Amino acid sequence: MRQVYGVIGNPIGHSLSPAMLEAAFKEVNIDATYVAFEVKEDQLKQAIDGVRGLGISGLNVTIPHKVAVMEYLDEIDPIAERLGAVNTIVRKGNKLIGYNTDGKGYLQALLPILPKSLKEMRVLVLGAGGAAKGVAVTMAMDGVKEMCISNRTVSKAEELAKECSSHTRASSLPIALAQARLTEFDLIVNTTSIGMTPHVDQMPLSLEMIARGVVVSDLIYTPFKTMWLKDAEARGAIIQNGVEMFVNQGAVAFEKWTGVEAPRKVMKKKVMDKLGGMKC
Ligand code: ATR
Repeated sequence: MRQVYGVIGNPIGHSLSPAMLEAAFKEVNIDATYVAFEVKEDQLKQAIDGVRGLGISGLNVTIPHKVAVMEYLDEIDPIAERLGAVNTIVRKGNKLIGYNTDGKGYLQALLPILPKSLKEMRVLVLGAGGAAKGVAVTMAMDGVKEMCISNRTVSKAEELAKECSSHTRASSLPIALAQARLTEFDLIVNTTSIGMTPHVDQMPLSLEMIARGVVVSDLIYTPFKTMWLKDAEARGAIIQNGVEMFVNQGAVAFEKWTGVEAPRKVMKKKVMDKLGGMKC
């Protein structure tokens, strides 16, 4: 029988996940469909009951449900527990188990472009929301040399730095100080929405001080190359946008559902086609 997978979120109309995951199922000859379900916040419990009742095989979970969905699941994987958010639900028999593939997806995207081991790198993370947590805690657990967090709301940066500090040397840094100490960092990651369409002329931080060869990573992929990434590239940085992370978080979810290696190239091509064939 044809299996049903999907993604829940609100809004969900512009999600690239259905096209990407349907291409993946087709490529490996799994008879499955993948549907985007718009679920309002007060309908989340009913939606998860529906997953159980209808026998839906697996789900992705996106904004605003990544935290709230946890209370309706039977088990939470330790990494998702640590990150305080679930983006993937796997059905095992009658149980629904919550995972978080964002951090692993980010690392899978990042590691191939690094000029040296992550363990030797001093990292600056801009932002302290849900995406920042996934990225920063995962990198801290992987053992970066040092982790600094800068955020508009300083208390959130302090909280995230504290979480990272159980794994590595971590601190919060006021944005002005991060700006002044930019030369100290080997990797700078933007997890905020600054520079995202339609506010494409905004930058999270000036990169005037960066050295050549620094890695600059932006989780945004609309626009495909933010003004900030273009500036970084012009200054000789190694750059990466959010497409690879998006593809890899979906690929890791696919592998958890099916046990089959995800066809990452096919998935990326589908996302690129949907984004209009742009190149980074
Ligand atoms: P996500 O799940 O995408 O991380 P989020 O949890 O709402 O979304 O976090 C958004 C992050 O972007 C936060 O760090 C936020 O800063 P605050 O904690 O101060 O709100 C940051 N952010 C968003 N818009 C911003 C802006 N215009 N200027 C500075 N920071 C911004």
